[in-house]
Amino acid sequence: MKKILITGGAGFIGSHVVRLFVDKYPDYDIYNLDKLTYCGNLENLADIENKPNYHFIKGDIVDTEVVNMIFEKHQFDGVVHLAAESHVDRSILNPMEFINTNILGTVNLLAAARHCWQNSNQKHLFYHISTDEVYGSADNGSAFTEKTPYNPHSPYSASKACSDHFVRVYHDTYGLPTIITNCSNNYGPNQFPEKLIPLFIHNIKNKKPLPVYGKGINVRDWLYVEDHASAIDTVFHHGSIGETYNIGGNNEWKNIDLIHNLIKITDCLLSRPEGDSLSLITYVADRAGHDLRYAIDASKIRKELGWEPKIKFSEGFEKTVKWYLANEQWLNNVTTGIYQDYYKLNYENRDKTEQ
Ligand code: NAD
Ligand code: DAU
Repeated sequence: MKKILITGGAGFIGSHVVRLFVDKYPDYDIYNLDKLTYCGNLENLADIENKPNYHFIKGDIVDTEVVNMIFEKHQFDGVVHLAAESHVDRSILNPMEFINTNILGTVNLLAAARHCWQNSNQKHLFYHISTDEVYGSADNGSAFTEKTPYNPHSPYSASKACSDHFVRVYHDTYGLPTIITNCSNNYGPNQFPEKLIPLFIHNIKNKKPLPVYGKGINVRDWLYVEDHASAIDTVFHHGSIGETYNIGGNNEWKNIDLIHNLIKITDCLLSRPEGDSLSLITYVADRAGHDLRYAIDASKIRKELGWEPKIKFSEGFEKTVKWYLANEQWLNNVTTGIYQDYYKLNYENRDKTEQ
């Protein structure tokens, strides 16, 4: 496969995937289609933007004309589809944006790929990147397998679940060569500071309150973003058509424990006394529909494709904190006016709670 379309390549995970493909496969042409929404940031790719096999296209996956035009023009061999609205709290404030981008945008891409590939004998792949949130909450102590029934609880996860269904429909109904992966929480450099880890590092640094939702007992399974990118590389090249693979870090943390760990590392790196920022912890009203626990059973990808995470959590976590502390300019550049409006809307209406 030589001409690869990666959507959402200017975002958090997308930028790591684009970099990996551009660097590792100099004979591939990588086309990054991104609308550059509030969290799409070309600075994330500054180090590779002049490489001859990298091409940027500014465009909206919801725009049928644009999507059809670029498929027609470039005749992609494969698609890695990451573009999405990705933040649960924003989906609660504005579900329609998520329906448009995550559902309509995905169906647009599927339709264009189908049209472009229908009379071709070449090998093609439409690879859809999804989330473990489609499975709902793993409250019963077991982990999600690829056979766990879908049970989404937020507009974000419902929109991702719907897009997954459409990907399967295009495979089953039209024979489109598709693969889906469902991954757990990613952490690492270049994540927009609306998500827990970068937001809390930013707030610790600026001595601002750390808004913990509910009792802080929700559990997430954290994976370093470069490990996710390497899983995507593995699945893209070795996955079986029509299959789904779960990707996870086998690394479950209760939010409040993760936050204590984050405070410890950040205070130490800022040369503050141990525990200095604990007083910033502020319990606030819970997220509506907040899933208690996500946990991934990643045995299928391990057994069938030999993929496993490589980066130890302690190592990846410290590296991540160091990156945000060292890249103040990046943080300042992404926290635009639009972000400040969202921050007000999401946090100022939440009552503080006693724990
Ligand atoms: P992100 O929000 O950081 O980036 C999304 C990117 O998509 C941005 O560059 C944005 O500009 C682009 N985009 C948004 N709407 C677009 C549109 N209409 N047309 C073109 N581009 C558009 O997201 P992320 O955290 O990097 O997540 C990437 C993908 O991985 C998403 O599909 C998400 O559901 C999935 N995922 C994320 C995680 C996680 O922990 N972040 C875990 C599992 C799966
Ligand atoms: O599981 C994969 C998903 O992980 C991805 O599909 C999503 O795109 C990604 O955003 C992430 O979703 P979460 O909702 O789990 O991530 P977030 O960083 O928003 O929150 C992590 C946990 O921390 C969650 O239980 C909510 C809690 N939280 C979050 C924020 C932003 C707080 O307690 N306070 C906060 O201010």
